[in-house]
Amino acid sequence: MATILREWSYRYQWLYDSISKVAAITVGGDYKFRRLFLRDLTITADTKVLDLCCGSGQATEILVQFSQDVTGLDASPLSLARAKKNVPQAQYIQAFAEEIPFSDRSFDLVLTNTAMHEMQPDQLQQILKEVYRVLKIGGTLAIVDFHKSNHWLFQAGISIFFHLFETETAWQFIDTDLKQVLTAIGFTNYRDRLYAGNSLQVIQVQKSQIST
Ligand SMILES: C[S@@+](CC[C@H](N)C(=O)[O-])C[C@H]1O[C@@H](n2cnc3c(N)ncnc32)[C@H](O)[C@@H]1O
Repeated sequence: MATILREWSYRYQWLYDSISKVAAITVGGDYKFRRLFLRDLTITADTKVLDLCCGSGQATEILVQFSQDVTGLDASPLSLARAKKNVPQAQYIQAFAEEIPFSDRSFDLVLTNTAMHEMQPDQLQQILKEVYRVLKIGGTLAIVDFHKSNHWLFQAGISIFFHLFETETAWQFIDTDLKQVLTAIGFTNYRDRLYAGNSLQVIQVQKSQIST
């Protein structure tokens, strides 16, 4: 169960950003944290990018430095209003990630940054299937999110953080075998990197066959 801090962190952007910055210390600071997903990705000016669950544009801001074709999608009108103000170079759409309002094979890259831990298990499945559908053949999905730590200090930190700010979906998420889930959907070339005592994961997978 989360506390009132969860609601406040969404209501007040300065609080969300401050929490993010404190958490980012574990990977060497905010600058590094925000760019973790870039490793091994090639993003050019015409790469079509979807920032799924873009929030207030925290990752969108990095993406528009590489691509001129970035779309941010989020269900929250408040977050989207902030994203439009913070990162006007991107386009935005209000929608649920479970029903991405784009046609099949629309994007070269889908990034979802610290959002999938908020989804119920069946919702997560549906979202990842949708991502597979909207990716072009050869396109990449990058996921940055929590991971189950094997270090007591990070386990304690994550436990406190989850109790204050997250719901049961975050605990379910770190117990999910994402490699198995993604592979069952059809993604290939699974690669992951772990950071901060394994409490943070950056996954990259590809769509290398036509979706059914
Ligand atoms: C923890 S924030 C992450 C925001 C941002 N990506 C970042 O890096 O900070 C999660 C975001 O997911 C959005 N979200 C949650 N469920 C969603 C859904 N089913 N469809 C679309 N957006 C959703 C929320 O509105 C929120 O902006």
